[in-house]
Amino acid sequence: MDAISVIRTKRDRERLSDEQIDWVIDAYTRGEVADEQMSALAMAIFLNGMDRAEIARWTAAMINSGERMDFSTLPRTTADKHSTGGVGDKITLPLAPLVAACGAAVPQLSGRGLGHTGGTLDKLESIPGWRADISNEEMMRALTDVGAVICAPGSGLAPADKKLYALRDVTSTVDCIPLIASSIMSKKIAEGTGSLVLDVKVGSGAFMKEIEKARELAETMVGLGRDHGLHTVALLTDMSTPLGLTAGNALEVRESVEVLAGGGPADVIELTLALAREMLDAAGLKDADPAKALADGSAMDAWRRMIAAQGGDPGAALPVARETHVVMAPSTGVLTRLDALGVGVAAWRLGAGRARKEDVVQMGAGIEMHAKPGDVVTAGRPLLTLHTDTPERFEYALESLTGAYDIAAPGTEFTASPIVLD
Ligand code: URA
Repeated sequence: MDAISVIRTKRDRERLSDEQIDWVIDAYTRGEVADEQMSALAMAIFLNGMDRAEIARWTAAMINSGERMDFSTLPRTTADKHSTGGVGDKITLPLAPLVAACGAAVPQLSGRGLGHTGGTLDKLESIPGWRADISNEEMMRALTDVGAVICAPGSGLAPADKKLYALRDVTSTVDCIPLIASSIMSKKIAEGTGSLVLDVKVGSGAFMKEIEKARELAETMVGLGRDHGLHTVALLTDMSTPLGLTAGNALEVRESVEVLAGGGPADVIELTLALAREMLDAAGLKDADPAKALADGSAMDAWRRMIAAQGGDPGAALPVARETHVVMAPSTGVLTRLDALGVGVAAWRLGAGRARKEDVVQMGAGIEMHAKPGDVVTAGRPLLTLHTDTPERFEYALESLTGAYDIAAPGTEFTASPIVLD
């Protein structure tokens, strides 16, 4: 077998055989297939697709490229959630301790932000002392003692995906259903969770801009889960406007803590509770009451213990950016659109995200929104506050906010899109 013939097969719109898939994933993991060859294959897959059987085999080969975790000795059932990525998507932060407070164990292996979408690990790293990299033993201890852990996947888990994802990111081959589905599901299946709830985002701030594409992605991932005996369900949720009122690392941690304290924006609370119910159902804990766990402080207690178990100080002050710039509403009326992509790119340009993997993110950078679609805004009053340590970035960030919001005449009827679409 050789890489050139595998690339040629997909370039010429033919099916990859099981042997070709197994060989290319294994050889790439071992360094025998070069990055430029894998880039060419990823682009051929991006352009010509893969059928269900090819995706299933590709996923299995990525799982087999590394170790599999085993949580069967834990006293609680495991339940995990994965979001396909969005703007202001801080849901994992309140969700993991909330589901733990209701009796399940949540082994949440998370990622970092790249491009305009934020990453859970970057957000949590704004908490002084908190560590994303922990050993498998520490993970098991946290799951036993606290019931929730949010950490970086160990280097042994689906190493083929780790290499391939980094390559896709710099070769414009990320937003491809076979590659996204196999990337996410290989990690989740190798992680060994008992059940999985997928939050598939739809809209300008998501990889999938149209609901039909999001549905295809969701069905592909649910099918892959089923093939591997992993109980998987998916929700399609709105990402046309940012979730909550903040986008940026420390800003989002602050908002998540507000939700755990019984406050916070209505959309963040609604989606957190909807996903918690799905996770608890999937874990067989149908009688658990996540709304009660949020209200009675038990989710907050689990959050504090989860953060402390990874070296973080849950009571410490969070980083604040050195400079702010306020964008005033240009007119009085009803905010009818606040675009997730525009806000996400602005937050990223302010320093909340990275352009290259090695970039350092600014913990305090990001955007605070003073209104959500449907709210009345007043001319000359704050609409958005931009935060950064590097004020020379304001102009660049403001460019991406041009045309990112609409204000209609006072009294205009507005019906908000539901958060959970399907
Ligand atoms: N998240 C992943 O883990 N992989 C993808 O391909 C896209 C989002």
